[in-house]
Amino acid sequence: MDKKIVDEAAALQKELTEHSYRYHVLDDPVISDAEYDRMLRRLIQIETQFPQLSVPDSPTKRVGAPPLDAFEQADHSLPMLSLDNAFDDQDVKEFHQRIIKNLSADDITYTIEPKLDGVAVELRYEQGVLTLATTRGDGVTGEVITENVRTIRSVPLRLNPVDGNIPNILEVRGEVIIKRDKFESLNHDRENMGEQVFANPRNAAAGSLRQLDSSITASRPLDIFVYGTGLLEGISFSTQAELLDYLKSAGFPVNDHIKKNISLDAVLAGYRELDALRQTLAYDIDGMVIKVNNIEYQHRLGQKIKSPRWAIAYKFAAVEEITKINDIVVQVGRTGTLTPVALLEPVNIGGVIVSRATLHNEDEIKRKDIRINDSVLVIRSGDVIPKIIKVIKDQRDGSEKNFSMPEVCPVCSKSIEKERIDKSTINRCVNFNCQAQIKERLRHFVSKKAFNIDGLGKKIIEQLVDEQL
Ligand code: IVH
Repeated sequence: MDKKIVDEAAALQKELTEHSYRYHVLDDPVISDAEYDRMLRRLIQIETQFPQLSVPDSPTKRVGAPPLDAFEQADHSLPMLSLDNAFDDQDVKEFHQRIIKNLSADDITYTIEPKLDGVAVELRYEQGVLTLATTRGDGVTGEVITENVRTIRSVPLRLNPVDGNIPNILEVRGEVIIKRDKFESLNHDRENMGEQVFANPRNAAAGSLRQLDSSITASRPLDIFVYGTGLLEGISFSTQAELLDYLKSAGFPVNDHIKKNISLDAVLAGYRELDALRQTLAYDIDGMVIKVNNIEYQHRLGQKIKSPRWAIAYKFAAVEEITKINDIVVQVGRTGTLTPVALLEPVNIGGVIVSRATLHNEDEIKRKDIRINDSVLVIRSGDVIPKIIKVIKDQRDGSEKNFSMPEVCPVCSKSIEKERIDKSTINRCVNFNCQAQIKERLRHFVSKKAFNIDGLGKKIIEQLVDEQL
């Protein structure tokens, strides 16, 4: 084979890997998307013609592999534990006291890390190359999801050498997440396609990782943050802080809001800071993980059956409030699906004013016996779209009114049809010329994933359609 082709493939693989890292991990691209796509297309062309050049860590491997029939299972080299919970400062102080007593030492410092609300995974690198990715499963055995994890752009397919070294074996643990804005647009697209929406970003991440067809996973906006290790060969760390620094240098996304090597007082202050920051983060967190920094101390402390003695999860209070449903209105989606939405008496939930909550469908309203004028418990915790947890029935005063789905479309007044999908009833406006559907179709058409027409947003589309233009 022509040496020029071999060199070109190797150069493209190297450069594309570097640009993908800059884009997805550092958030600091230096070339345009179009340029990246051009290089990728050229590499695909070369690798298609000369499959022997398609190495396992080529960036072309991120698009998905042929579908599987079922997931294989694999045992974790070391069990993936869960964490005990702390709910207030007192619980954390007691955790600290237990550690001091257990170690007969008082030079204890901690790292604190956001507790990411996603899906735990383990990634195994052999001689620096990603060879296996598994779910946590029951902690002992997980499912093999290597092809799916390969499609996550921020997961390195090959480790960067650090100080010239590549460990023989490195198992890395982390959390696969979907950022809130990406989750919203994923759900919006699904709604438009008439598909079931995900309840929250964690469910969306879990559902996306459990696809037998990795090309579907590749189309989902998955991200990862890593925070720990499993089996190690040819590398060791003396502190959690050092371990995190190493993972960052090796090419992994490590969360920005981690504090290293701090005292108990700083841990408690850090919890309040993180709680205040929480709503501004691009992803969901449900607490803070406190870890003993010194790894030798971690080993000496050891573990209980399911959780280590050297770490604890300090959970945030659930963000929920009681408010009133002033009305229930019906939204018409791109394919005509009618979705009831509760208009709430505006309420501040964890720093955000909430005035709407989706009710999903008619069955949900019946199941929870939700009525107009009801007082309801609304939660934002983990969820992007506020959800009604339950009706506070003993606050009913007789003014409540039952809601029923309209017989005709609230926008075009044409009759609606009922469909059964996955055990729930979907009400659909079947008038293709319904103004609401036209608007949603246009929004879909100009959206990022379709024609990506900048500047043609919701407002302009509404004006155009309303003016019959
Ligand atoms: S450490 C032995 N660190 O929380 C240490 N876990 O309830 C166990 N999680 O299964 C995990 N963020 O899925 C750790 N910064 C973080 C984490 C984290 C989220 C999840 C993880 C784990 C669960 C434990």
